[in-house]
Formats: sequence, C-alpha cells, structure tokens
Amino acid sequence: MEEEKILIEDNINECYKNYLQERTRYLIIYGGAGSGKSHFAAQKFLWRMMHEDNHRLLLIRKVARTIRNSQYALIKSLIYEYDYSKDFRFRETDLTITHKNNGNSIISVGVDDREKLKSIHGITSIWIEEATELDKRDFTQIDLRLRNKTQNYKQIMLTFNPVDANHWLNTSPMKDSVTIKTTYKDNRHLDGTYIEVLENLKDEDKEYYDIYALGNWGVLRNIIYKPFEILQTHTTHYDEVIYGLDFGYNNPSALVKVKIKDDFFYLEEIIYESRLTNSDLIAKMEKLVKDKSDAIYCDPAEPDRMKELEEAGFNVFPANKSVKDGIDFLKSKKIYSRPDNTNINKEVLSYSYKTDRNGNIYDEPVKFNDHALDAVRYAIYTHCRNRGGSMRIRRI
Ligand SMILES: Nc1ncnc2c1ncn2[C@@H]1O[C@H](COP(=O)(O)OP(=O)(O)OP(=O)(O)O)[C@@H](O)[C@H]1O
Ligand SMILES: [Mg+2]
Repeated sequence: MEEEKILIEDNINECYKNYLQERTRYLIIYGGAGSGKSHFAAQKFLWRMMHEDNHRLLLIRKVARTIRNSQYALIKSLIYEYDYSKDFRFRETDLTITHKNNGNSIISVGVDDREKLKSIHGITSIWIEEATELDKRDFTQIDLRLRNKTQNYKQIMLTFNPVDANHWLNTSPMKDSVTIKTTYKDNRHLDGTYIEVLENLKDEDKEYYDIYALGNWGVLRNIIYKPFEILQTHTTHYDEVIYGLDFGYNNPSALVKVKIKDDFFYLEEIIYESRLTNSDLIAKMEKLVKDKSDAIYCDPAEPDRMKELEEAGFNVFPANKSVKDGIDFLKSKKIYSRPDNTNINKEVLSYSYKTDRNGNIYDEPVKFNDHALDAVRYAIYTHCRNRGGSMRIRRI
C-alpha cells in the first residue's frame, strides 16, 4: 500500500490558500520580512509540478549563483519534507528538478546569464525571487519569454520586500495582476525570536518597522553607505587577506573575506546562514578558510565562541567596538563587492541610521539586516587601525 504523503495544501499559510489556484498573469507577492512569501511561491510551483502537465517552470533571480541557496534549495527541501523525493530527480549542475512520471521540469536562470536567458524556450510559468533586484528592462525581457501557447495558464510570480517606494514595482502597476500583501503575522510557522526582532523595530526605527514588520512601501532616508561598486572579477594579486565574522544563531552568522590591494578592499561573502551552532560554524570554516593564519576579526560580544575558534586553530582577534568610527572609516575607503555577494549587496541598500518618531537621527545604525556589514566593518576597521600598531598580525 502506498504510504500517505503530506499534502501541500495543508501546509500553506491561510493568507495564501486562495491563491494556489489564482490564474492571473502576474501574481505579486510582497510584504514584511518572514511572512512566508518565498515558501508560498515554492509550494505553488511544486503543486503545479504535481497536478498539471507539460510544464517547464523557470526560477529567476538577478544573479544566477544565488538561486542555488534560495529558490532551488527551498523547493528541494519541501520535496523532501513532504516525502515526494522518490518522484523527483535533481540535477545540481544546472539546478534542474524533473518529475519522473509526468516529465514536468523546473529550470533555473539568472538575469546576469543573458545568453542562457535568450536561449530558453517553452517556458510555462516563472517565479522571480527578490524581484526588486531587477530593473524594469530585465523584467520586460523576462516577460517576453512567456508568450508561447501553453496547456495551462501562464503566470509570473514575483516575491520581494517593499524597500523603496520609488521602485518600478511600486510605480508601474501591472495589468492583469493580483497582489498579495502579507506580514509576519500571516506566517504561523515563524519562530518567536524572529517575531521579537521584528516587533522591536517599533522602538528602533519607524521606517524599518513600516517596511519589514508592516510590509508597507517605504523610503529609507538615512542610508549609511553608498552601494559598494560591483566588479564582475576582482584582481588576483593581493597584499593581504583578512576576514570579518559576526556571530549569530537565530540571526545569520556572517563570514566575509576581505582581500586588500594597496588601499582598496575587495569583499567576498563566505558564510551567511542562520541556525549554525559554533561547531557547525567551525566545521564550515575548516572547509572555507584556506589559510588558517589569516586574521579573523570577530564580534567582540562573544568571547566564548571566539575562544573555541582559537582552539580550532584560527587566528582570531576581537573586533574594535566603536561603531561610529568604524563606519566613518569605511566610508572613506574604496570598497568593491561582487555580483554574488547577495547579502552584502542587499544589506548595504537599507543599512541606515536610527531615526525616532520625531525625526531625530541618531549616530547608530538600526540593528536589522546588518550582519554581513558588521563583519565587513570588523575586518577592515580593526585591521587598518592596528596596522603597524601593537597587535601582531601575520602576513601572507
Ligand atoms: N508553509 C510553511 N511551512 C513551514 N514553514 C514555513 C512556511 N512558511 C514559512 N515558513 C517558515 O517561515 C520562515 C519565513 O518564511 P519565508 O522565508 O518564506 O518568508 P519570506 O516572506 O520569503 O521572508 P523574506 O521577506 O525575508 O524573504 C522560514 O524560515 C520558514 O521556515
Ligand atoms: Mg523570501
């Protein structure tokens, strides 16, 4: 007898249930952080893979390399969680998921992979994750790819946070669309600590609270950094390599590698992941930190975790604590990012000084979506401050 499998329908948050069968061309799913948007889009794709035929569904994000750990990983994890893994085949090389019996497939492409995007045919529906990463031209190109005749309805799902009221997604309304706006309150699966973080924003910063807790289109006014310039490739010869590490558990732990050449800094995101215990983190670092003698500047609030890293052979130092000085220092430097530093590039767009209800601006940043940027600051500021000073730093 066939064992009973979990039904996708039973796991969809209430606020999204009516949209499982929604057939409008554009399904716009936006709102506050952690409201279950990505989960629902993944569930809907999976449902269509199992209940409809002749599908070639497409996962899109701005940067191809970021699909693996977001949309693709999420759909794959749902297939395992719901116990459907025997029915699917996964091809990790190009992030393809195929249904073994009905031939349906999910394929992936990044907007940055223009050649591949142009060559893709026969698409039957699309999910664009973090759609605010795309400019309007990117979107129009994608929209044009979905004009062929299909057996089932064609739909483009867009998921995103409403970070900037001037964004084209807010200012250019789409015909034949349905919009779902949700907040953390709509997600019955969210964990308590995350809810607390979102609710605390109320006392931290009005705009952040508005965007990330209430899910309203906002305008962040006191952005701290100009976006780092993004280079496709970084030079290969450096004077030094250092790292910055921000510890988290419910929040992500963030490890950023900083390569230094003259007075230029090149960032590379190495780890950005929630729910890592210190041993998980160390295990990952054993694989990812090539040279253990490189200095790692750590979140100074966690001496015990630092000690364990030291015992594991890493060259750790407590980072300098002065946030304001660190920020000012970074602002005076030339810092380069890369397209696949998704979290650094995302955080830098919203990282801002706290503003209270009366419009008073404080000298400290809002403590939200700041993990990768903290790691960057720990590394660059502490390292440069101590250059030639009393702290001994091994050079490569
Ligand atoms: N239907 C569900 N079943 C189980 N867990 C869920 C479900 N929906 C959401 N979650 C949990 O809630 C958390 C937030 O969900 P999700 O990432 O889908 O939200 P989001 O709205 O896309 O967030 P963000 O705005 O940060 O992109 C996830 O960590 C996930 O584990
Ligand atoms: Mg999401």
